[in-house]
Amino acid sequence: MSKVTIFNHPLIHHKLTIIRDEKTNTKDFRQSVSEIANLMAFEVTRDLPVKEVYTKTPIAVAKTYTLDCEVVIVPILRAGLGMVDGIQSLIPTAKIGHIGMYRDEETFEPVNYFFKVPKHIEDKEVIILDPMLATGGSAVDAIELLKSKGVKKMKFLCIIAAPEGLERVQKEHPDVQIYCAHIDDHLNENKYIVPGLGDAGDRIFGTK
Ligand code: PRP
Ligand code: URA
Repeated sequence: MSKVTIFNHPLIHHKLTIIRDEKTNTKDFRQSVSEIANLMAFEVTRDLPVKEVYTKTPIAVAKTYTLDCEVVIVPILRAGLGMVDGIQSLIPTAKIGHIGMYRDEETFEPVNYFFKVPKHIEDKEVIILDPMLATGGSAVDAIELLKSKGVKKMKFLCIIAAPEGLERVQKEHPDVQIYCAHIDDHLNENKYIVPGLGDAGDRIFGTK
């Protein structure tokens, strides 16, 4: 089973409350999703490789460190787009790939409609973004698509996960580390996360 990191931080709890609230408007929802991703980025990037460099300060030469890798952020459309800014503001050199997926309303199976990732992604540190991990179908397929491109180092970052989906991704991709702000209770008959926050894509883009 892959490792799961859960966040227990007052700022994340506070912002989770905002995005769960059915009265929160599109602007505040989008902003809070981005801020949660930004707060999570610190932990997700904790083990990125660094190299030693020597830097001349106005006083002396200091031994310092710079990132020794390239990062690719891969949001799963649409809702994952809401997390991009929060990560990219901390890693401005990151390249961005896109995976377009929606869940079929009857089967709840993911349907892939777009896949475009940077060249040589196989050598990069990949961070997949999607605020919701429900049945886990979208996450499993997205990871498979990236593995088919040769990606070896990848992490999956979500905001709310259902236990069912989490277990499925852990079993099918034990090599992928998962980060989620909170694990909710269960999935309802429509495979929505309970208590969750509703449809993340619709709430980010104001489409319902
Ligand atoms: C949502 C969400 C995930 C998926 C999770 O996308 O953003 O991609 O559902 O469900 P799963 O774990 O059961 O696969 P949705 O299909 O609503 O598309 P959207 O982001 O374009 O609204
Ligand atoms: N997708 C969402 O946006 N919300 C859920 O609860 C489940 C899937």
